[in-house]
Amino acid sequence: MTTQPVIPVIIDADPGVDDFLAIAMAVANSHLDLVGVTTVGGNASLEDTTANALKTLHAFGADDIEVARGAESGLTRPFVYARDFHGPGGLSMGLPLPTRSLASTDAGEWLATQLSDAPKPVTLLPIGPLTNIALLLESYPDITSSIREMIVMGGAVDGPGNRTEFAEFNTWNDPEAAERVFKSGIPITLIGLDVCNLVTFAPPDVESSQTPCGEMMRAWFKTHPDREVFQLCDPLAVAVAIDPSIVEIDVTGVSLDCSNDETRGNTYRDSNGPLLSVATHVDAVRARRLIAELVL
Ligand code: BDR
Ligand code: CA
Repeated sequence: MTTQPVIPVIIDADPGVDDFLAIAMAVANSHLDLVGVTTVGGNASLEDTTANALKTLHAFGADDIEVARGAESGLTRPFVYARDFHGPGGLSMGLPLPTRSLASTDAGEWLATQLSDAPKPVTLLPIGPLTNIALLLESYPDITSSIREMIVMGGAVDGPGNRTEFAEFNTWNDPEAAERVFKSGIPITLIGLDVCNLVTFAPPDVESSQTPCGEMMRAWFKTHPDREVFQLCDPLAVAVAIDPSIVEIDVTGVSLDCSNDETRGNTYRDSNGPLLSVATHVDAVRARRLIAELVL
């Protein structure tokens, strides 16, 4: 039997119900070494998403994992939150807030230190608006060599968006940041909505789970009686970090629409755009099983 090497990862998140599940996966999976979590506004205010990151790690007995607070607004506009979808404070149920302090209130500086001190290049898992990563690359342009790759949940290259007809929520909330990150030259795998929409939980999947994720999912379905499924967007990015073979990749140029038009935030194929590894197909059965085994 071959032993898989352990991959150091940092999650940049805006928790968020699906971010909650994604962080839970990274804590639970022994193939990933979760170095820390940086927070960004998005699904809720930065204050809420930062509290939610601390609550999430606490819920999984991981108070030793550092949390650093990042950007409270996008590069050019304030974030628009998704509280209707995730819950008033960004989560669908209340959780205790641990009393511990943040490791830093400057995510860029914290990331730069962690990345430069790491014994081997680290995988970044950005699952919210890409503002923190864009600011990191602006302030520390040489840091790219310390980043092994990024697996980004964002965009909808081959399908419609969820925030608008054209744009997925994370790229819509800060397209200027996403554009800068996409052009950074760091190897990027893009896990977009077109594949995320295929990997879901339905109420029967979570009804008997005794875990915090099962409880969170049940609370979410209770507040969304009109929804038949919950899309496992951020968890799919973590699943790909654990097992890249669950998606098929097309290496293609991708550009961002940074206009002020209705198409703002659109990610589209463009032969002049930076080359990204775009997930075009997912083995939804295996992906769902991998996620369920870790969180339910
Ligand atoms: C993405 O937007 C957020 O609401 C989710 O947490 C996920 O990162 C899906 O479009
Ligand atoms: Ca998210």
